[in-house]
Amino acid sequence: MVELSVRLGALELRNPVMTASGTYGHGLEMCHFTPPELLGALVSKTVTLAPRPGNPTPRICETQLGLLNSIGLENKGIESYLEHTLPEVEKADTVIVTNAGGESIEEYREMARILDGQGAVDAIELNLSCPNIQGGALPFSTDPAKAAEVVAAAREATSKPLFAKLSPNVAHIARMARAVEEAGADAITAVNTLLGLSVDWRRRKPGLGTVHGGYSGPAIKPVALHCAWACARAVEIPVIGCGGISTAEDALEFLVAGCAAVQLGTACFADPALPGRLVAELHELLRREGIASVGDLIGTLRDGREENLEARSGNGEERPKGIPVR
Ligand SMILES: Cc1cc2nc3c(=O)[nH]c(=O)nc-3n(C[C@H](O)[C@H](O)[C@H](O)COP(=O)(O)O)c2cc1C
Repeated sequence: MVELSVRLGALELRNPVMTASGTYGHGLEMCHFTPPELLGALVSKTVTLAPRPGNPTPRICETQLGLLNSIGLENKGIESYLEHTLPEVEKADTVIVTNAGGESIEEYREMARILDGQGAVDAIELNLSCPNIQGGALPFSTDPAKAAEVVAAAREATSKPLFAKLSPNVAHIARMARAVEEAGADAITAVNTLLGLSVDWRRRKPGLGTVHGGYSGPAIKPVALHCAWACARAVEIPVIGCGGISTAEDALEFLVAGCAAVQLGTACFADPALPGRLVAELHELLRREGIASVGDLIGTLRDGREENLEARSGNGEERPKGIPVR
């Protein structure tokens, strides 16, 4: 037996495999492909205070190596989520993470306040990073001070574990990571989609109704891995890796780079049964390698920091940065 459970701050996940917001419905739509009890956690698509119709179509566009989307956070709003979705999702035997979005600090605060009162919600993931509202112009995804304001406002409104989901579309993601950690985030999700554009040159038309959108899928894995690694080096809170993961090997790369867990997104569109299978593959891979616990791999990348870690372990500090310390 291989131990797959991991800690995400105050939360214990039965394994490090989570779904990524917006790519797996609210979770239960897919339960005939992957029973939720096989997963570490289910993450909802972004919920906002008011219903949102989303962006003009087309909102999904396949490219050679990845997917572009500009959904624009279409959702029925928090009232409908609480009345219709959460009571169903609550039945799932796994950790439930509700992803919350907003267009102002007040909206994020209010979402956190409302979700704080919901026993079925185990954690709140703040989507600070959607490129598909206001044309990606919201400062929460690129300005560390604004991101910190959002997290601080939500922190005041909830005692639930709070994850901050960051954008890769910044020059220094470590600064964003430190800002949200200082503002009270319990974990960081790295990352959301990259800004991208698709062009049909014959029709002289963009592939998406909004012209540009968010790029995801296997092609972004090296970018996402770099972002997650940079965050894990910069903060003490756990980092959840996301971006281009489609195999157990991919997931292990993120864990070695310092992530405590991973989220699967675009790959689930091609294969909705992937999350459950990936857990089984993770188990088998570690068993074959003779690794007793997935936790033993977290943050073990030999990137020059390991001497520090060895020196520190003599002082009773056994675990590297990037895995839960709270
Ligand atoms: C169609 C689609 C919809 C998405 N919707 C959301 C969303 O509602 N909220 C959010 O935080 N991220 C959303 N994302 C971003 C994913 O959660 C994930 O961060 C990103 O796609 C990178 O991971 P991947 O390459 O595994 O897909 C969406 C991605 C896609 C492809």
